[in-house]
Amino acid sequence: PRIAVIVVAAGSGTRLGADAPKAFVGIDEHSILRHALDGVALVGDVQVVVVAPSGREGDAVTETRAAFDDRSDLVSVVVGGATRQASVAAGLVAVWPDVEIVLVHDAARALTPPDVFERVVAAIDGGAAGAIPVLPVIDTIKRVDGGEIVGVVDRAELSAAQTPQGFRRDILDAAYHDPATEFTDDAALVAEAGHPVAAVAGDPLAFKITTPADLVRAAGLVSRHPS
Ligand code: CTP
Ligand code: MG
Repeated sequence: PRIAVIVVAAGSGTRLGADAPKAFVGIDEHSILRHALDGVALVGDVQVVVVAPSGREGDAVTETRAAFDDRSDLVSVVVGGATRQASVAAGLVAVWPDVEIVLVHDAARALTPPDVFERVVAAIDGGAAGAIPVLPVIDTIKRVDGGEIVGVVDRAELSAAQTPQGFRRDILDAAYHDPATEFTDDAALVAEAGHPVAAVAGDPLAFKITTPADLVRAAGLVSRHPS
């Protein structure tokens, strides 16, 4: 395939506070990881690299077989690292040589619709070095220092970043080769390396399951739209 999707699922899920790593927590009878992979399976002919927590590789393989069925040869599982960035780096190593575009996707954004993937790929096909889905910020944002409001931030110039974040493969490889510091997303790393990153429309359904309330919301959405 021309495109690879790295699904990072190696986090522990501290804020969710479940008794399993977040990717293996159920939304309904299916786990967060299974839902995320079901979404990726709709994207078409892509290589998929699942980055799993150490010791959970076997469970990740089970989930990928369930989601990809007779296309399981497109999927591999690798072990992640202590940070998201380390987990992405581990996934990148497993990307096949012929791949030209790499999408990095949070397993925790389990209900991301396929058209978000398509918009990201379309931007890169249109010449962008990288592209990420964004949503407008809803809340009024304040700059706070020492318990006091110290500044106004114009909400209109802010966006919330989602995944999948897509990049030309050569550019992402280079950015991950020797990262200067730890960033919370891939776009920051690529921007730090000097490449412009395009913004495409995100989707509210691409929200990240972070807290128990997010899991309740995801369960409600899944029960209303059974797959
Ligand atoms: N992730 C990863 N490896 C890590 C940390 C995070 O692969 N060492 C992945 C998570 O599995 C998740 C995505 O990065 O799909 C976004 O991270 P986040 O939502 O912060 O997940 P966790 O780090 O697991 O949660 P928390 O920060 O609450 O512990
Ligand atoms: Mg985290």
